[in-house]
Amino acid sequence: MPSAIDFRNVVKTFAKKNGELQSVLNGVSFSIPAGKTTVIAGGSGQGKSVTLKLVLGLMQADAGQVFVHDQDITRARGREMERLRTQFGVLFQGSALFDSLTVFENVALPLRERTEKSEAEIKTLVEGALAQFELSGHEEKYPAQLSGGMQKRVGLARAMQLKPSIMLFDEPTTGLDPVMTREIYHLFARTQAEFGFTSVIVSHDIPKIFNLADQVIILNNGEMDVFGSPEEIQWSEKPHIQEFVKMTMGDIYQSHLVEK
Ligand SMILES: Nc1ncnc2c1ncn2[C@@H]1O[C@H](COP(=O)(O)OP(=O)(O)O)[C@@H](O)[C@H]1O
Ligand SMILES: [Mg+2]
Repeated sequence: MPSAIDFRNVVKTFAKKNGELQSVLNGVSFSIPAGKTTVIAGGSGQGKSVTLKLVLGLMQADAGQVFVHDQDITRARGREMERLRTQFGVLFQGSALFDSLTVFENVALPLRERTEKSEAEIKTLVEGALAQFELSGHEEKYPAQLSGGMQKRVGLARAMQLKPSIMLFDEPTTGLDPVMTREIYHLFARTQAEFGFTSVIVSHDIPKIFNLADQVIILNNGEMDVFGSPEEIQWSEKPHIQEFVKMTMGDIYQSHLVEK
C-alpha cells in the first residue's frame, strides 16, 4: 500500500530549562497509508503535536528522515517547503478561526490568499462547502456566535478549501461533549470516505468510534507502537498499552454495535 507519510528513525530532543535533555522521539519509524485514517494516540506531553510539526516542517528532526509522498521534507527548504505544505489541510485544537471574520470570510480565506479565483467563483465554492457541512444560513455569523461543534465544522470546511491530500487533526474534539465528539468523528469519517484524503488524527485517547481508524499508533516514552486495527490494541501484551487501553477505551470499545 502506498504511504503518504513515512518516519525513518526520527529523533527529536529538547533541552529542558535545567539543561537536561528530554528525548521526545527516540528514533521512531512508522508509515501512514495513503487514503486511510490513522489515529496517533498518547498521553499529554508524549510528543503528538511535535510529530505533526515535524510532518509540516514546522520543526526539524535532530536525526532521521520524514517523507511526505516519498519526498524527504527534512531536506526541503524555502519554496520547496511551501509547495509541500500546500498538500496539507490542518485542523488544530480550538479551530483557530478568526474572531473578527464571519463564517463565510473564514472559509473563503485560503481561496482569497492562495488562489487567483474570482469573487464569484469563491462564492460558489464557499456556499457549496457550507452546505456540505450543514452550515448554510450561518454565513454572516461570527465564530463566537456558534456552538463548539459548528466552529469545528467551519474549521474543517476552511481546511478543505485547497483540496489537501493529507488532513492533520490535532486533538480536534477538545472542548466538545461526548455526543458532539462522536458527531464530529462521524463527520470526519464521512468526509474522508467522500474525498479520499489521508487522515491523521491526534488524540489523547483512542476515539470511541468503532471503525474510525484504519491504523492506530500509540506514542509512549519516545517509542511508537503501530497497530493495524483498533481491535489489535486490545490483544497487546505490553503493560503500558494494556494500561492505556483500560484507561481510555473502557467498555464502549468492546462493543461491536458502535458503527461508523
Ligand atoms: N519548542 C519546544 N521546546 C521545548 N520543549 C518542547 C517544545 N515543544 C514541545 N516540547 C516538549 O516536548 C514534549 C512533547 O510535546 P507535545 O508534542 O506538545 O505533547 P503532546 O503529546 O501533548 O502533543 C513536551 O514535554 C513538551 O514540553
Ligand atoms: Mg498536543
